[in-house]
Amino acid sequence: MCGAWRVLAQLAVLAMWVASGSAVYAQRLAPRHQQTPPPILAQVASPTVGRQLEVSDTNTESMYATSLSGRAGDALRGRALVADRQYSLCLLCHRAPMEEARFQGMLAPDLKTAAAALSEVQLRARIADARRFNPETIMPAYYSTDGLQRVAPAYVGKTIFTAQDIEDVVAWLMSLK
Ligand code: HEC
Repeated sequence: MCGAWRVLAQLAVLAMWVASGSAVYAQRLAPRHQQTPPPILAQVASPTVGRQLEVSDTNTESMYATSLSGRAGDALRGRALVADRQYSLCLLCHRAPMEEARFQGMLAPDLKTAAAALSEVQLRARIADARRFNPETIMPAYYSTDGLQRVAPAYVGKTIFTAQDIEDVVAWLMSLK
């Protein structure tokens, strides 16, 4: 009797092992965009996420269709902002085509590649609030005061970037195309 139970238990373990194995195998076979990356990798290695969620663009299109400051961007100032490690922090996560900037980030898509693939409106929307395209993003929302956590008292109600900062950075990215 005892032996029969043991065989049954072993069969159950074997069935579970086969099932989990085939799930992993199915994952591997699935096209890349259908795979579920582990949560940490999903945050860090999500260069494709921005583009996968293009649907959100229909909502954001009108919000970010035109200059947030009402003025054109200054590409040179935008470049300086991106390079500024105290103010913008872009290079903490991104690479950018700047010879002089050493130790660039590797947590996010290359800004030159991103600029080549995205329109002005899409770039503006992503810098203003990247959470619209990936709610789990590690990228700060540079032009939003909604839904932020643990904001230091001095910064409550203030955005990281001014509207003109956003425009200047977008202008520089557009100049990379
Ligand atoms: C703390 C890390 C971090 C910082 C700082 C950061 N980003 Fe990002 N950014 C990311 C990550 C990660 C992504 C990939 C999309 C996502 O979040 O899933 C991203 C996406 C983007 C995209 C869209 C790329 C694409 O191909 O879809 C642009 C454009 C961008 N960032 C520009 C900037 C600029 C400009 C700055 C500075 C003003 C900046 N980022 C600061 C982490 C960061």
